[in-house]
Amino acid sequence: PRKIIIDTDPGQDDAVAILLALASPQELEVLSIVAVAGNVGLERNAGNALKVVELSGRTDVPVHAGCARPMRRTLVTAEHVHGQTGLDGPDLPAPKIALQPQHGVDFIVETLMAAEPGAITLCTLGPLTNIAMALVKEPRIAPRIAEIVMMGGAYFEVGNITPTAEFNIYVDPEAADIVLRCGAPITMLPLDVTHQVLTTRERLAAIAAIGNRSGEAVAQMLAFSERFDLAKYGSDGAPLHDPTVIAWLLRPELFKGRQCNVAIETASELTVGMTVADYWHVTDRPRNVNFLRSADADGFYALLTERLARLP
Ligand code: BDR
Ligand code: CA
Repeated sequence: PRKIIIDTDPGQDDAVAILLALASPQELEVLSIVAVAGNVGLERNAGNALKVVELSGRTDVPVHAGCARPMRRTLVTAEHVHGQTGLDGPDLPAPKIALQPQHGVDFIVETLMAAEPGAITLCTLGPLTNIAMALVKEPRIAPRIAEIVMMGGAYFEVGNITPTAEFNIYVDPEAADIVLRCGAPITMLPLDVTHQVLTTRERLAAIAAIGNRSGEAVAQMLAFSERFDLAKYGSDGAPLHDPTVIAWLLRPELFKGRQCNVAIETASELTVGMTVADYWHVTDRPRNVNFLRSADADGFYALLTERLARLP
């Protein structure tokens, strides 16, 4: 199986992504789940990661806590979307397992330095603070990263937290800038993709009908988190963001995109956090990102539902 580290701010959609990965041990070996501040504060995000690991029955997977705030800016959170706990919806028990004592950034650095180059893929589902801090602390990790697969950014869909910025990039644009320039192969799942995989009534009903505790909890999470987006977008279902990262690792043929340059706006007050994608190659900037633009939504939900059925 492919070795991955999941860097995340759970978050209902992060939780679904974690469950999808943990339900797929033949393809993915999850070395750790590293929490970062984002949807809510670090402590809650890390506690939510522990709850999700317990829900999955995979208490062998370690959880680390990383950075509690962005590199330069004041933390912006999204309780209005995810609820006060960050994971409102299901009533998950207080976790029995504990966080690892090591800092998440140190775990990322040590693990990459100890492994063969190209052995470890980083999956990022939140602001990029931990990955950027790891790159600053130990730049020699960059050529050792197999790939960074991130949920973040937007092209035509432009922004969800400001008119021009997607949340994960907006929270820590300086970190995103460092990561996008680091030289490691990057695949980006932007809003353009995630706004195509909508939580329609039929898809949520199919997840609820799986009949296990994980399926029930996911249905409750998505029913909670979609309220805000249904009102906002008026669409037949809400976008589902972070699980697209794991789905791409499992079934890349479900997605389409192209290699192009992506740069981050860090200076402008109006457009800070914008992902400027040179999709049509009008500059000669390096093609640093495999920028995905579309997804087979039915295929994605079939995969998700089938995998969730494997969990407790
Ligand atoms: C991203 O922001 C968060 O609220 C979600 O978990 C996702 O990672 C979408 O913009
Ligand atoms: Ca997230």
